Amino acid sequence: MRELAWKARQRNRSLGVTGMLLYDKGRFFQTLEGPPKSLSVLWQSINEDRRHSHIEILSEHIVPAQLFGGWDLLSYHADEEPFHKVDKIKPQHGLTSQVPALMELVLNGDDLGINAFVASAAEQGWSGDAIITHLIEPTARALGDAWLSDDCSEVDLTIGLSMLQLAGHAVRHAPTPQSLRQRRYSIMLATAPGEPHALGTSLLADLFTDAGWHVDMAFPDSDQALANQLASQKPDALDIGLSDALPRQQKLKLLRQTVERSRFASPDHLTVVSVGGRLFADAAATAESVGADHARKTASGSTIRIAELIRQKRQLPR
Ligand SMILES: Cc1cc2nc3c(=O)[nH]c(=O)nc-3n(C[C@H](O)[C@H](O)[C@H](O)COP(=O)(O)O)c2cc1C
Repeated sequence: MRELAWKARQRNRSLGVTGMLLYDKGRFFQTLEGPPKSLSVLWQSINEDRRHSHIEILSEHIVPAQLFGGWDLLSYHADEEPFHKVDKIKPQHGLTSQVPALMELVLNGDDLGINAFVASAAEQGWSGDAIITHLIEPTARALGDAWLSDDCSEVDLTIGLSMLQLAGHAVRHAPTPQSLRQRRYSIMLATAPGEPHALGTSLLADLFTDAGWHVDMAFPDSDQALANQLASQKPDALDIGLSDALPRQQKLKLLRQTVERSRFASPDHLTVVSVGGRLFADAAATAESVGADHARKTASGSTIRIAELIRQKRQLPR
């Protein structure tokens, strides 16, 4: 086993592959991650290795980042001393018992609930460090486990992690429970002037309203009409939606103009301009190509990303 793991580690390192290998009572369990080409070379060797049989692939999927990035092959042999020391199970911290409740809020995408939950931990007197170490980080790991076992999707994982990240920043940088609860911004959700398709804009309306934002809608027929509405309502952010069904390549130039005029209409308040539509979802256009701050590939997660951009641009503590 030692020799197998040692050799495997050397080879994995040379192939840019990371992962872990568990051995217990005659059974192996392994996770491997890395460039697809390296994995297929490796898989061929492992598959032909006569030191094991009855091999079953439990799951094969694309991951956004390597979970075992620091390990050529983290291996653990239950019958002996671990090859690499694996953390001993620590006695439970008082906050850790709250992980399942936080996990539920994360899986429901309830960012306000998460903030309130973390605020109440701060109110109970837990320090920011304790909240991060014993509540937020274990919840992130639980979320990773849920994804590995297919109990949540990759989108749930990504959004959940960014919500936790924001909650983590909030306790570090704005430790008063009050400030955690008072994060409300306003957004104007507009269809691009003349655009009859409003699916994206109406999906966003639900998401932003549920997240506690102040939402104004606009269906302008010209840049000037949009500018007038912006000048009177002064939102923190503006989202301009092109069609979610049809690529509107020829509209990009006009959209750039709309973004520019919108900023001009409310220079002191409008902090973030976001754009959306099929062109952006297909990655055929970017935020930069129309002078916006953000392009949404999907509606989900927009509340978090736009709030984060407002904070960054205003250099507010998170
Ligand atoms: C359960 C198990 C897991 C293995 N994992 C790896 C691994 O992660 N990386 C690796 O290079 N070899 C691993 N090996 C060893 C390979 O099967 C193979 O012996 C080694 O890569 C040498 O390949 P070659 O004989 O094609 O040169 C593993 C073997 C077993 C039985």
